[in-house]
Amino acid sequence: MSLVEKIQKDFLPKHLAIIMDGNGRWAKQKGKLRVFGHENGTKSVRRIVETSAELGIKNLTLYAFSTENWNRPRLEVEALMRLLVSSLRKELKILLKNNIKLQAIGSLDTLPKKAKKELFEVIEKTKDNTHMTLTLALSYGSREELKNAVKEICEKVKNNIISLESIDESIINQHLYTQNLPDVDLLIRTSGEHRISNFLLWQIAYAELYFTDVLWPDFSKEDLYEALINYQNRERRFGKTSEQIN
Ligand code: IPE
Ligand code: IPE
Ligand code: MG
Repeated sequence: MSLVEKIQKDFLPKHLAIIMDGNGRWAKQKGKLRVFGHENGTKSVRRIVETSAELGIKNLTLYAFSTENWNRPRLEVEALMRLLVSSLRKELKILLKNNIKLQAIGSLDTLPKKAKKELFEVIEKTKDNTHMTLTLALSYGSREELKNAVKEICEKVKNNIISLESIDESIINQHLYTQNLPDVDLLIRTSGEHRISNFLLWQIAYAELYFTDVLWPDFSKEDLYEALINYQNRERRFGKTSEQIN
């Protein structure tokens, strides 16, 4: 049986999130500049987006740029923003062909004008697509997202739009950037780092975590298949006992 045949199609994660890490080290290993790694990272993005759509994953969220990444050297940040613009241009066709809807989460206002323009154009052109929702986390930080949610909710309480008593988990959910997405079922991080780096802290409360040493530009279809098979062989207990589940 091939790897892909081992994947149970009716048991896919409803929401797969990926921390795409290791571009810089990949380039360094080859004696190249970090930007070379980022360029090759975009090829992995295309591969994994297409493969996810092919498999029938409904929601894929990719961590492309964190609020903390603004602290990188200016030249690297500029290169990343340029790559964002050129990838959005190139990938529009793929998104349309595969019926994929693009959306973005993060403080999008902080992105350079050109990137914002390109981003909102692609979002607009793909907004009616239904096969898969691809969410790009751009200038995203989970703590910032939660801070904004708290502020918005407080504002509503202050203005008597909602009562303090009515605040529950679903109201908090509705004030996150990810309000239209289900909780993350599977979170993958590449490059051997075992940390979350301020990504979807609320949304991964019960996610299965999968870490691989593979660097993002090398992350192949088969690597994704392996992660999914691994996920499908886990028992998700959500606080219950194994006996209760079976
Ligand atoms: C991930 O690769 C891409 C971004 C964070 C934008 P890195 O650039 O973090 O690569 P490493 O971790 O330095 O190898
Ligand atoms: C996390 O990667 C952010 C993205 C993948 C966009 P980093 O490489 O920035 O994470 P840390 O700083 O090493 O934790
Ligand atoms: Mg990194």
